[in-house]
Amino acid sequence: MSDDIKRLLENNRKWSEAIREENPDFFPTLEKQQAPPYLWIGCSDSRVPANEIVGVMPGEVFVHRNVANVVVHTDLNCLSVIQFAVEVLKVRHIIVTGHYGCGGVKASMLPAQNGLIDNWLRHIKDVYSLHQAELDGIGDERERLRRLCELNVQHQVRHVCSTAIVQNAWSRGQSLSVHGWIYGLKDGLVKDLDVTVSSPGEISPIYIYSRPGA
Ligand code: CO
Repeated sequence: MSDDIKRLLENNRKWSEAIREENPDFFPTLEKQQAPPYLWIGCSDSRVPANEIVGVMPGEVFVHRNVANVVVHTDLNCLSVIQFAVEVLKVRHIIVTGHYGCGGVKASMLPAQNGLIDNWLRHIKDVYSLHQAELDGIGDERERLRRLCELNVQHQVRHVCSTAIVQNAWSRGQSLSVHGWIYGLKDGLVKDLDVTVSSPGEISPIYIYSRPGA
């Protein structure tokens, strides 16, 4: 076995030991049931690990990550995660977390081809296009990227809220808030973008579904 892989397995043994030493019931308790109050939708970027950033142990946050934290209404993977999290786990918060300096967002601003992934990043080009006047007006390239990273999160929050899954949860009276956060690679700090949505009243009418059976 190569050393870089061996290292991971050794780390795992030490990690498991340390946790069991502190709390022998930790794994047996978790094995029986997970009841995380949060669903995290974040970027696949290796520098943005969900649990570590918010200091929670296994069992506390259900996680979906993809390139540039995009929520696409035809992506069965992301939709299945949202459905399971909302309807079965009954999470109380969905947190879309972007990050400054996102390579996916940056690539979406450039004309260079990157292969298949360009089709995924097209969703962010669409966000750019919706905010073209504001973004084109930002002279500094890094500032423009920062702003697009923020706008991308805002749009993905709206996409989460535009699903029947989230709207049906609200119709049932389930407590559910959708938040937009952005993480700074340079200082490890999360900023709340203040775009939290907790009811259908905050969604554009065209995206509102009637209650099932209504
Ligand atoms: Co990223």
